[in-house]
Amino acid sequence: MARAEGSLLLLLALAASCQALLAPPTLEINLDDKAEVRWMPLKTAYDVDYLNKVAAEIVDSTVPKWVHKAVIPIVKALERYVPQPYAGEIRGLSSFLGGNLVDVILLNFAYEVTAFCTSILAQDKRGNVYHGRNLDYQHPSLKNLTVNLIFRKNGKVAYFGTSFAGYVGLWTGQSPYKFSVSGDQRGTDRWWNWWKNFVSAFLLRRSPVSWLLREALEEAEDFQDAVMRLSKTPLIAGVYYIVGGARAGEGVVITRDRAGPVDIWPLDPLHGGWYRVETNYDHWRPTPPLDHRREVASKALNNTGQANINMDQLYQVLTMDPVCNGMTIYTTLMSAAYPGRYFTVVREKGCQITD
Ligand SMILES: *[C@@H]1O[C@H](CO)[C@@H](O)[C@H](O)[C@H]1NC(C)=O
Ligand SMILES: *[C@@H]1O[C@H](CO)[C@@H](O)[C@H](O)[C@H]1NC(C)=O
Repeated sequence: MARAEGSLLLLLALAASCQALLAPPTLEINLDDKAEVRWMPLKTAYDVDYLNKVAAEIVDSTVPKWVHKAVIPIVKALERYVPQPYAGEIRGLSSFLGGNLVDVILLNFAYEVTAFCTSILAQDKRGNVYHGRNLDYQHPSLKNLTVNLIFRKNGKVAYFGTSFAGYVGLWTGQSPYKFSVSGDQRGTDRWWNWWKNFVSAFLLRRSPVSWLLREALEEAEDFQDAVMRLSKTPLIAGVYYIVGGARAGEGVVITRDRAGPVDIWPLDPLHGGWYRVETNYDHWRPTPPLDHRREVASKALNNTGQANINMDQLYQVLTMDPVCNGMTIYTTLMSAAYPGRYFTVVREKGCQITD
C-alpha cells in the first residue's frame, strides 16, 4: 500500500515536471523603453540563429520565392507607412536578428494569413467568466518560439500576452481585471489576395488584426471599450475577436470584416447561452463537413455542464481530439477577474501527453 502510494506520488511529480517543461518562457517587455530596444529581452531566451532559421522557413512557406524577390521594393516603400510603435519595434527586431528589415516585416505579416484556432468563453453558475484558446498553425517549429509576455508601463503590469518570438502583434492576451481577448482567423484568403489587401490596406491605414488586439489591451478602459474598439476599427482582413470580461455576462464573439462588425454574439447565460465556441467559421452557418472542432467542443461543454465548468474542465475540452490536433501550437487559459491564473501550455508532443 505504502509502496503504491509512493509510486503514485512519483507519477504525480513526473506529471508536474512534464507540465513545467511544457510551459513557454515568460519575458517582460518594458513599454517605457524605446520601441527599438524593447524586444531585447528575447536575447535571454532565444538563440538568434535558430530564430532566423525558423523565420526564413515561415516566410518561404507563406510567400513563394519569386514573389518574395518581387515584393522587396514594395515592402521597402511601405516601411514608412508602418505606424509606431510597430515600426520601431520591427526595426529593433531586425537589427537584433542581423539586419534584414524586409524579412522581419514579411514575417510579421505571414502570421496574419494562416492561423486556425478554437476559442471558447464559458460562464459558471457563480458568474465567473473563463476564456480558453488553442492556436493552430502549420509550423511545428513555432512551438519553440511560443513565449508568454508581460508588458509593463510606468513600472506596473499593463497587460499579458502569448505570442511568437519575433512577432510584435498579439493573438492572445489579457488586461488584468478588465478583459481577456483572443483572435481566430476568418476566411481563407490566398496569399495573393491577402497581399493585395495588405498593400492597399496599408495605404488606407487599416490595422493588422493582431496589432488592433494589442492596442485594445494597451488602451481600452474596460470590457465595453475593448468590444467597441475591436468592433469598429478598420482592419486589413476579417477575423473573429473573442472577448471575455471580469464580470458575469461579459463575453462576446465579434465577427469582423475589414470595415466593421458583421455580427456580435454575446454570452446569454439567462437563456442557456452559458458558453460560446468559435473556431474559424461564422457561428450562424454550419461548419464544413471535414472540420468538427465546433461540434466536438460544444458537445463536450454540454456534457460538462455549467455547474461543473472551471479552468481545468475548459482545458480538458481544449485537449480533446480534434479541438486539439496535429497543428495545435499552444493552449492558453484566462479569466480576466483572476489575472494570476493566466496559463499557457505548449502542445509539444500533441495533446494526449498531459491528460
Ligand atoms: C525545438 O528546438 C529543439 C532544440 O533546438 C529541437 O530539437 C526541436 O526539434 C525543435 N522542435 C520543433 C517542433 O521544431
Ligand atoms: C448542446 O446543448 C444545447 C442546449 O441543450 C443544444 O441546443 C445543442 O444542440 C447541444 N450541442 C451539441 C453539439 O450537442
